[in-house]
Amino acid sequence: MSNYHIKHLEEYFQVYRKSITEPENFWEEIAEEHFLWHKRWDSVLEWDFKKPEVKWFRGAELNVAENCLDRHLQTKADKNAIIFEPNNPDEETEYITYRQLHDRVCRFANVLKEEGIEKGDRVCIYMPMIPDLAVALLACARIGAVHSVVFAGFSATALATRINDAECKMLITADGSYRGEKTIDLKGIADEALEKTPCVESVLVAKRINSNIKMKEGRDKWLQPLLEKSHTYCSMEIVKAEDPLFILYTSGSTGKPKGMVHTSAGYLVYTAFTFKNIFQYNEEDIYWCTADIGWITGHSYIVYGPLANGATSVMYEGIPTHPHYGRFWEIVEKHKVNQFYTAPTVIRALAKQDLEHVENHDLSSLKVLGTVGEPINEDAWHWYNDNIGKKRSPIVDTWWQTETGGIMISPIPFTTPTKPTYATLPLPGIQPVLLDDEGAEINNNQVNGNLCIKFPWPSIARTIWGDHERFRQTYFDRFKDHYFTGDGAFRDEVGYYRITGRVDDVVIVSGHNLGTAPIEDAINEHPSVVESAIVGFPHEIKGSALYGFVILKNVGEWRVHENVRKEINQIITEHIGPIAKLDKIQFTSGLPKTRSGKIMRRILRKVAAKDLDDMGDTSTLLNPEVVDEIIENAIK
Ligand code: WT7
Repeated sequence: MSNYHIKHLEEYFQVYRKSITEPENFWEEIAEEHFLWHKRWDSVLEWDFKKPEVKWFRGAELNVAENCLDRHLQTKADKNAIIFEPNNPDEETEYITYRQLHDRVCRFANVLKEEGIEKGDRVCIYMPMIPDLAVALLACARIGAVHSVVFAGFSATALATRINDAECKMLITADGSYRGEKTIDLKGIADEALEKTPCVESVLVAKRINSNIKMKEGRDKWLQPLLEKSHTYCSMEIVKAEDPLFILYTSGSTGKPKGMVHTSAGYLVYTAFTFKNIFQYNEEDIYWCTADIGWITGHSYIVYGPLANGATSVMYEGIPTHPHYGRFWEIVEKHKVNQFYTAPTVIRALAKQDLEHVENHDLSSLKVLGTVGEPINEDAWHWYNDNIGKKRSPIVDTWWQTETGGIMISPIPFTTPTKPTYATLPLPGIQPVLLDDEGAEINNNQVNGNLCIKFPWPSIARTIWGDHERFRQTYFDRFKDHYFTGDGAFRDEVGYYRITGRVDDVVIVSGHNLGTAPIEDAINEHPSVVESAIVGFPHEIKGSALYGFVILKNVGEWRVHENVRKEINQIITEHIGPIAKLDKIQFTSGLPKTRSGKIMRRILRKVAAKDLDDMGDTSTLLNPEVVDEIIENAIK
């Protein structure tokens, strides 16, 4: 018996030890016992971090959608796979059983085939959080097509860049989406993007808000009529273990977004294994992750991980604050949710509201609470623990990344004692290390360092779509023979990890990973802007928010043209999306630069954080005088 389900601390240590000393046996046993294969692997793991190259279960053949759906039909065809809770509470909840989900996925897969989509083709998905979004992912997986989901909050430019980078043949979207009281014209945004994407041959449009949209003859088709007339059986494409399952873009500290490529077998095995353990999922449980499927959290822990375990996964279309601040708790009560997984930014926002919104609801079904996306501060942790979990439900602070595919460091509930703000211990198979800036491993405890991983795990991204050299440089070059996460971490006296934040130019705003460079590139397109630098600063709700320092062509201009601020945020919204808007914009005559011309962001970060006592060593600056000006004009 493989140790697929860890239930107490000694077992964790024993399983962890085995996963490190015999990684191949460890993962092989799990793969053998818990998944369906059409052909067995020739080798469990081949790897070389120098190239870098990682192959898990090479030679094996499988279908990921079959593992998530077909194989459950014998034992749980009538169990709910997805419970869909609409944005508008007056609209009916949709309960989708494994049988129904299977049939819907087959119909959708047949539509994709009819439209000429074949194994290996890329399909871009830009949709609201409705069941057809999950169905679309699985339909791609069924026929071996590679999905690339773009979060429906991204702008037309951001969508077009991602479509073109992956050369997607098809776009799946909707007439619009609901967001609280608002509707969003998704199709309008998609149309704008489609003007710049010659690779897209066809567009499928789901009807959601019944808006009056334009359909382009010969290119656009309504999805529902096609689904209705297609068959509920669809043969599946058996793929190789290392065939790509999907691409998902994440922002980098420089240049264009990185299309992280995840492959089939390793990703399936790891997300399924971690889902089971981190949420201690039992057969009758109702699990809810509030993330959007547009992010990796939704891919791994709304769709693939839960469904691979035959779980019931709640999918919510709306926002936490509509139509009232108790909406999440109302849904927990309504469905008797057992495991609830959300982001610190949501917790902080809801903690600001009257406690009545929580107390009005029966939350006694909750057993495990999770957080992800950014460090959770102590206050938010306690509020979550006291008011939502009533000190009975352990909080799993899960650290991971788009690149890692699944959760890497996290408590296992009822097993690992939790500690506020600590992600605690690595999961089986994960070998984190702290390296100093010179790359030497720090072996003692109570130390800070650069968080790296020294051994491959099954769901590590294999490359950046179309740019393997960038993949190597970004993750494997800074520290020899290690995967570098870009995060700093502190390890306490017992070996628990606490993530201290990014050590590169990425800022996590409301749990969204934003590279500052692409935002600066966008701002610099404003005709009055000469140069700009963006840094993050602590924000009560968002965790971090963005602060821009901007040099205008005519230094005095901003006094007359206050709307340059508005225009800058307008440009950002167009290029990236509203999530990347700047909270504060300070116009300045110069930026602190080193002699080699690099902006000294450390100083800007201190100004933005109002931490002005000690500016540190500014002697290497080319223009130290500008620091005083910047401090003087800092925005409160
Ligand atoms: C970055 C990855 C993984 C899904 C959501 C974000 C930060 C993530 C935690 C946590 C502290 C965290 C890190 C990481 N982060 N989880 N529990 N504690 N920081 O995915 O957009 O790829 O961002 O989010 O800085 O590197 P992502």
